[in-house]
Amino acid sequence: MNIVVKESYEEMSSACAEYIGEYIKANSGKVLCFAAGDTPLGILQNLIKMQEKGEINLASMYYAGLDEWVELGYEDKGSCKQFMEDNFYTPAKIPVENIRVFDGKANPDEETKAVLEFIKNKGGLGMAVLGIGMNGHIGFNEPGTSVDFAGGKILLSESSVTVGQKYFNKKYNLKYGVTLGIKTLVESEKVVLIANGEKKADIVANSLKEKENPAFPASYLTTHSDYHVFLDNAAYFKIKS
Ligand code: GLP
Repeated sequence: MNIVVKESYEEMSSACAEYIGEYIKANSGKVLCFAAGDTPLGILQNLIKMQEKGEINLASMYYAGLDEWVELGYEDKGSCKQFMEDNFYTPAKIPVENIRVFDGKANPDEETKAVLEFIKNKGGLGMAVLGIGMNGHIGFNEPGTSVDFAGGKILLSESSVTVGQKYFNKKYNLKYGVTLGIKTLVESEKVVLIANGEKKADIVANSLKEKENPAFPASYLTTHSDYHVFLDNAAYFKIKS
């Protein structure tokens, strides 16, 4: 495990985008998978800037969805699909045929099958860039999810539903998510975990110190041979102490 710690969110985002950019330059045609949410926004903006400067070609890659709120589609503010399309796929001019994300309004089992097939047909996941939830979830793999779970519909924890309200402009009664499973994520050639802010410090420390503990889904990544963690100082400080 390689941990990179930067002073601020901006520095962390730029360092991680540089790292991903180098991967893109050397691995045209591989499948990337990005978490939606607040944490990756700076990275996605940096990647678009790098493309505008002619440093990388984002359309040379394939993109698989990581997760989605069941019942939410592109038209719903806060859906992962809307976040990724508006903040990345559209401004980065990625051809639609290079993208397969979850549609939260469609059947979750069929969506999972389609996303997993897309990944398989394109040679497997090359790099997964994951955020971490306040309760330690990666994608929507909630605490207690089996390491053998390849993906599918999942009952959301109370924490995920409550914290998730920050993305929405109205109150939803969401119960389920759909996600790539831990098994699929640990099979990615490279895994990147990103976290910032003091509020994530405890869960980050536990998720990196523990090994394969179901209470901390991200702890299954610690034994991955190509695992890179990008943090700001605030998210790192509990690891130091
Ligand atoms: C969300 C998503 C995850 C995301 C995590 C952290 O609910 N299901 O894929 O990585 O929680 O989100 P944020 O970066 O907004 O803190």
